[in-house]
Amino acid sequence: WAIHAPYVAAINKLKQERGAVVLAHNYMTPEIYHGISDVVGDSLALAIEATKVQADIIVQCGVHFMAETSKILNPSKTVLMPDMEAGCSLAESITAEGIARMRAQYPGAPVVSYVNTTAEVKAASDICCTSANAAQIVAAMDSDTVIMTPDKWLAQNVAKQVPQKRIVWWDGACIVHEKFTPQDLRDFREWHPGIQIIAHPECPPDVVAEADFAGSTAGIIDWVGKERPAQAMLVTECSMASNISDAHPEVEFLGPCNMCPYMKKITLEKVLWSLHSMTGAVEVDEGVAKDARRAVQRMIDLSR
Ligand code: 13P
Ligand code: SF4
Repeated sequence: WAIHAPYVAAINKLKQERGAVVLAHNYMTPEIYHGISDVVGDSLALAIEATKVQADIIVQCGVHFMAETSKILNPSKTVLMPDMEAGCSLAESITAEGIARMRAQYPGAPVVSYVNTTAEVKAASDICCTSANAAQIVAAMDSDTVIMTPDKWLAQNVAKQVPQKRIVWWDGACIVHEKFTPQDLRDFREWHPGIQIIAHPECPPDVVAEADFAGSTAGIIDWVGKERPAQAMLVTECSMASNISDAHPEVEFLGPCNMCPYMKKITLEKVLWSLHSMTGAVEVDEGVAKDARRAVQRMIDLSR
């Protein structure tokens, strides 16, 4: 922690001087998560919090689509992205043209796009969803067939929860969660009888089927807080266990995790530079932002 302390102090001082707030995703490193964030959460919580921010400057510690969502919801504020290269394999897997192709293939079916998409894709969609509300959003669609993009694994997990709908999906995947296999989970159960296994729904359905619970990153945190298992395996990004282990000393976190190379591009040094130099402001064309805002706001309204 000592090597982080000067950066943490400098960033917190600059935040005050500039009147900035830091919104940080649950996958940020512990020094960001615990040291400099004003709000932490999953994608849904960060999108909702972005609608309530009073400060003029938002520093988004997460990936690019999260900063875009904040900008879409706060067009007059400055949203700083400490590293523009912090992308997402899901967001990169589809364009607005891909949405048009799906619409042509399934005429009349509404398009539910994961928030892990670009502003253009959101603008071309009927509504957004996150892993926390995907089943609820799909169930609320006034159509028997629903198009879900771009995460095929999330779509297939939702299909099990909402069997009354015919869900068709785009062929995208998260490079972090698709690496886990059902055998990884079975091995840990055998080696640690009684261990509780919690997976993110971006994992393939055969992995989720081996887990005791599946939920968004905030859902995982809530579940651990409520159940307080003696041993837990979080089938998700590595920083999750590190970030919550201090609050749960009674829980032993075991098992493999995968690092998100995009999330890990955000470092204290880059946050400090971005705030100091005021570089890395995210811009979204207002025409695109208007339609994207409608899709995000519709999701927020339906999630209340
Ligand atoms: P959550 O909405 O569950 O935080 O997930 C975002 C994400 O990128 C997971 O890979
Ligand atoms: Fe995208 Fe997966 Fe990284 Fe989340 S963990 S930002 S879905 S690549």
